[in-house]
Amino acid sequence: MDTKILVTGAFGQIGSELTPELQKKYGKENVIALGHKNIPEGFDGIVETAEINDFETLKALIEKYQIKTIFHLVSILSANGEKNPDLTWKVNMGGLKNILDLARDYHLQVFWPSTIAAFGPSTPKEAPQHTIMQPTTMYGVTKVSGELLCNYYFLKYGVDVRSVRYPGIISWKTPPEGGTSDYSVAIFYDGIKSEKYECFVGPETTIPLMYIPDCIKGTIDIMEAPIDKIKIRTSYNLGALSFSAKELSDEINKHIKVEVTYKPDARQAIADSWPKSFNDSDARADWGWSHSYTLDKMVSDMIENLKIKFSQEKNG
Ligand code: SER
Repeated sequence: MDTKILVTGAFGQIGSELTPELQKKYGKENVIALGHKNIPEGFDGIVETAEINDFETLKALIEKYQIKTIFHLVSILSANGEKNPDLTWKVNMGGLKNILDLARDYHLQVFWPSTIAAFGPSTPKEAPQHTIMQPTTMYGVTKVSGELLCNYYFLKYGVDVRSVRYPGIISWKTPPEGGTSDYSVAIFYDGIKSEKYECFVGPETTIPLMYIPDCIKGTIDIMEAPIDKIKIRTSYNLGALSFSAKELSDEINKHIKVEVTYKPDARQAIADSWPKSFNDSDARADWGWSHSYTLDKMVSDMIENLKIKFSQEKNG
């Protein structure tokens, strides 16, 4: 993978963990973090701000820093997307189109994440790599369209764009916001703070999930893989775990007491439209994907990290 690297959405759920990892691997001077919200106090690195639909400003940044690789993470997620479908199309598709056009014009390598939300109710509940994809959220529509656009730019212009379908990502650095899989993060935030959590999906709700260190590893691994190993240019299924909201609550309760009640809202239908698990054997065979965090390992690590984070916030 060539430096210099631009990360869009650098301070979002994935970016806030990917950006420091890239800085560590490639040097702070080689990673340009693009973002405007939630920039952590004392962030040590290069920060730039640009609207993802502002092609000219993005182009100027590519030239200014001689960018070679883009991790394009900016996206409006599933639950927020339903509040404003027009904006979701504009940000998710307009942003991706700009990044792909720049990649074509400046010969850049691109990472762009797709998601389990690209699947829909007619997808088998154990989603294969190649299957029916008819999502029912605008977020999902932009992701499946985005996958096709990536594949098109690869076929037509030879753009080296690589993508994985993330499961719901469980992480502790940024508070949950705007996604449907967020219950699996909010349960830790609320549980540690107040010993209670009102879950917005029912106890049996089961979707594919993954702990953030595995997500970061998969993201960097696919970008570092030799080009001949990348055989799918829409997006690779990237699996790890699959468990119900109740199973998560039970595992957390082995460590701390959290009283979980269930009050499903509109996000239940979104979660129900997604598969329960997915088959990622292509990612494993083609470029050696593997995950390492199990449910119990993830839960104890989340609790440990969040306790430190909350006590630092209180003291600091
Ligand atoms: N985390 C995303 C969401 O819940 C799924 O890709 O919207």
